[in-house]
Amino acid sequence: MKFNIALLSGDGIGPEVTAQAVKALDAIADVYDHTFTYNKALVGAIAIDQTGNPLPEETIDICEESDAVLFGAIGDPKYDNDPSAKVRPEQGLLRLRKSLGLFCNVRPVKAYEKLIDKSPLKREIITGTDISIYRELTGGIYFGTKELSEDGQVASDGCTYSVEEIERIAHLAFKEAQNRRKKLTLVDKANVLETSRLWRKTVTALAKQYDDVQLDFLFVDNAAMQMILNPSQFDVILTENLFGDIISDEASVIGGSIGLLASASVGSKVGLFEPIHGSFPQGAGKDIANPLASILSAAMMLRHLDLNKEADTIEAAVEKSLELGITTGDINPDNPFPTSKVGDFIADYITHPEDTNVNFRNVHMGQSTII
Ligand code: IPM
Ligand code: MG
Repeated sequence: MKFNIALLSGDGIGPEVTAQAVKALDAIADVYDHTFTYNKALVGAIAIDQTGNPLPEETIDICEESDAVLFGAIGDPKYDNDPSAKVRPEQGLLRLRKSLGLFCNVRPVKAYEKLIDKSPLKREIITGTDISIYRELTGGIYFGTKELSEDGQVASDGCTYSVEEIERIAHLAFKEAQNRRKKLTLVDKANVLETSRLWRKTVTALAKQYDDVQLDFLFVDNAAMQMILNPSQFDVILTENLFGDIISDEASVIGGSIGLLASASVGSKVGLFEPIHGSFPQGAGKDIANPLASILSAAMMLRHLDLNKEADTIEAAVEKSLELGITTGDINPDNPFPTSKVGDFIADYITHPEDTNVNFRNVHMGQSTII
């Protein structure tokens, strides 16, 4: 089959990690006889530098005309440290989410057996953790009215949610729970926030349509603690935009590295797939960033395009790289592999998985003398 993929690699390490995902996709195209056509477009700081706009119109058009969007990372310290900057790279991503109608962000978190001892959390706490976080992505405080008084002394960010916005993501989260361990936890702050009370009321009412799913509630402060104390209690977590942003970064320590966490943003026709890590500017251009989150995002993209076997194949290759320690310094500090070599390994394993018999590691690294 033929697919058009919008490639928005963005800033910092974005281009390097996305290039590895493309290698994996090209290997999949080879093995399963698909054609992926990549349409490159600008977003973030690089788009500001070249066009003055973090999300040029042309980029939106390219995304809308594609079957899916593969996103790298955005952000540049020259904007982070300037509170008076009028345009910011992050606006590009936020506007893109909004204009493509991507209201549902899915962030899977799991403890890979091979990496359990890399996590700062104890083995017995994280073993068996497998969570799917459903984060609302186009509402709440991120998109509310922002104000700064004329004298610069008072600022506010409004937080608004409608029943409709809550219901549409809650349906997706309930369905996900039905396909998993049938437990849904709504994370909110209903003891303080009016919006959270609306979330609780709306989700409780919907639960009647999903009576095989057990619904429970946690205040976000408690949820943040439970994520570290007992993460395997969670199956699907449903939460609003800001809480989901925070909880998902916190959850990434369970997997041993934020460099492993992929995400899918869906809602309308075109889905967007991106690692949850940022642009890691200190690592840009050094061939040291972990490409696995980007590669796993490509797998999520394939699943969304109904290419399930293909997605499984990428995931198996990632597991193999973890098993063999062909990984970057964040998870393999003693014997780190460069970003590009991890990508080469994954692509090669997808193409020739059978080469497991001889000197496996070297064969896939192109270093074998045994042919
Ligand atoms: C994320 C990021 C973004 C967010 C930033 C870059 C705007 O942290 O995708 O989690 O806050 O949503
Ligand atoms: Mg974040």
